[in-house]
Amino acid sequence: MTKATPIVALDVETMRAALALIDELGDLCRFYKIGSELYSAEGPAVVRAVLERGGQVFLDLKFHDIPNTVRGAVRSAASLGARLLTVHASGGDAMLRAAVEGAAAATSCEVLAVSVLTSLDAAALGAAWGRPIADVETEVVRLAELAAGAGVHGLVCSGREAAAVRDRFEGRLMTVVPGVRLSGGDRQDQARVVTPRQAAEAGARYLVLGRAVTAAASPRAAMSEVLSDLS
Ligand code: C5P
Repeated sequence: MTKATPIVALDVETMRAALALIDELGDLCRFYKIGSELYSAEGPAVVRAVLERGGQVFLDLKFHDIPNTVRGAVRSAASLGARLLTVHASGGDAMLRAAVEGAAAATSCEVLAVSVLTSLDAAALGAAWGRPIADVETEVVRLAELAAGAGVHGLVCSGREAAAVRDRFEGRLMTVVPGVRLSGGDRQDQARVVTPRQAAEAGARYLVLGRAVTAAASPRAAMSEVLSDLS
């Protein structure tokens, strides 16, 4: 099993709630994901606040725009101190290359391409793309090929495709796996879920823990359970 680092998603409405969660988790988690909900409410200040508390930041704004705009957006995010950030793989080769160029503004910022959202299954993906999708894994591997060719550092995919990506792109693309649930946990709006251990066994470098931790009666207890599942 590879060493997978857990990242907790700060999917909350306010800086206050985000910092309370970070304080509660304390030494159990040092890497946090800031997504569009919190960033739209609090802006760059919330990134700085997490960094000031000693946390590392994954800025998950999933950029998808023309190359010039994405290059600038990634440059701004990298300069803020984000260690990881996301763009949509389906933005295409030129957009992905522009994102990698933008990230070079900071020494330690890596670009992740989002392949297929973990909330989509083959039927939902087929309806969105207007063609039948035999299996999601084939689409994820196709997008991974595009991302690797553009020099992107990692891929966001579900734990169900992570092993296929590792097998084909080991050393070229690390994987980041959201849609993680403790065994027996509620799937909510996610379609392709795995447990922390299953994600790590599939080769994930990072796991994203959202509601499995943040909506638990005790986030600290849930986080301890994640860590023991990984040990
Ligand atoms: O609460 P839950 O564990 O479902 O949250 C998953 C987190 O990972 C959310 O912040 C969501 O935006 C993010 N994410 C995802 N699927 C992707 C990329 C990111 O669920 N493909």
